[in-house]
Amino acid sequence: MKISVFGLGYVGTVCAGCFAVEGHEIVGVDPVQVKVDFINQGHSPIIEPEIDGIIARHTKTGRIRATTDPLQAVMESDLSFVCVGTPSLPNGDLDLRFIRRICEQIGEALRTKDAYHTVVIRSTILPGTMHKVVIPTIEEFSAKKIGKDFGVCNNPEFLREGTAVADFRQPPKTVIGEMDRLSGDLVASLYEAIPAPLIRTDLHTAEMIKYVDNCWHALKIGFANEIGNLCDSLEIDAQKVMDIFCEDRKLNISSAYLRPGFAFGGSCLPKDLRALSYQARMHDLQLPILNSVLPSNEMQIVRGLKQVMETGNSRIGVLGFSFKAGTDDLRESPMIEVIERLIGKGYDLRIYDRNVNIAALTGANREFILNRIPHISRLMVPEAEDVLAWAQTIVIGNSDPEFKKVPQKLRADQCLIDFVRMTTPEGKYDRSPLTYA
Ligand SMILES: NC(=O)c1ccc[n+]([C@@H]2O[C@H](COP(=O)([O-])OP(=O)(O)OC[C@H]3O[C@@H](n4cnc5c(N)ncnc54)[C@H](O)[C@@H]3O)[C@@H](O)[C@H]2O)c1
Repeated sequence: MKISVFGLGYVGTVCAGCFAVEGHEIVGVDPVQVKVDFINQGHSPIIEPEIDGIIARHTKTGRIRATTDPLQAVMESDLSFVCVGTPSLPNGDLDLRFIRRICEQIGEALRTKDAYHTVVIRSTILPGTMHKVVIPTIEEFSAKKIGKDFGVCNNPEFLREGTAVADFRQPPKTVIGEMDRLSGDLVASLYEAIPAPLIRTDLHTAEMIKYVDNCWHALKIGFANEIGNLCDSLEIDAQKVMDIFCEDRKLNISSAYLRPGFAFGGSCLPKDLRALSYQARMHDLQLPILNSVLPSNEMQIVRGLKQVMETGNSRIGVLGFSFKAGTDDLRESPMIEVIERLIGKGYDLRIYDRNVNIAALTGANREFILNRIPHISRLMVPEAEDVLAWAQTIVIGNSDPEFKKVPQKLRADQCLIDFVRMTTPEGKYDRSPLTYA
């Protein structure tokens, strides 16, 4: 394939070199003459293992050359990869200057090109940028129509500096955000030989995933460092602790707990977060990440509460209020918190949880419900149907399988809020928490 690569920095140079290795014909574009000269003289403009040799080899085979002329590059390629920088503005927003300029240049070039052309944004851009900036700018400057005369894809880059060429051969995944199948197929064909999951999705999801990945990686590093600092203060070997932590592939290094939903609670997580945070304070240690987890959880409770209130109904029914399905434990259940706040605001409530039976409760939980929240036991009804028959707004508070069929039982005047997303219908836009109005 004939590919133009816009921006010969870290991402663009690796992209150009590695696609040339795969047998494609590359023309690199950069306004910086020195970078263009470097490539044309067989050198890499960036320092990165293996890349210098690749550029040297493929400028000789004629598969790589570079130019400062975007028009020539678009005319001589079927597909353009955009790898320009997207730095931060002082307020933290993205500086889209380079992306805009590229779209203008590619648009101007497409004005005089008859063949269908695909523009692939490889730079990291915030969700919505393809629709709000990239497509309208190319359309304006080309006077052509997306999907008819040209196509776009978003193909975020997951390679790490220092191992970028090796990562190109074996990336963690390839993600292609697309609008039209033709462009998506074209980009997918470039990755046929790459042994990694290939995920084709919509543009917004592709734009978002790169940010989610990077924020997650940053969070992991920050978390490990905070644990390391605390271990140091406690004279515990942090490497040993984290080695054991990482051995757990079921709950720690896994997809467990990574589905957006409602707040956490129960008798362990909040208590243990508080205790570790207190230990850190005793050692004059700041742990901003760990200290922010409970406030973040509180925001999730407030968010849920707001959603219930926004339905405008006064009769609220709750299905499931122990802290998770399959237990009768009510200690620090976030649903109990929502229920208490709704009572405080004067809402009328009926609540049901098949696992919570006052007569059968024992120990700390019995003490908790009878002494700390006796007003809540008065709201309990014996059957889910009692809630369904009476309430105007129904809230599913834990994922007891009994509640799976609730959407089918709703009357037209009722509204369901599913905090735990257990009733998400196939194909429905997956918001969290999920509301059926
Ligand atoms: N560096 C990484 O490891 C990495 C990894 C993943 C994603 N990204 C993302 O990829 C994008 C590029 O990052 P980078 O580190 O390669 O940036 P970079 O600053 O190294 O390179 C950008 C290049 O674009 C060129 N450029 C500017 N305007 C141009 C124009 N109109 N036409 C052609 N070229 C133009 C610049 O001269 C420069 O050579 C960013 O959005 C970044 O967030 C970077």
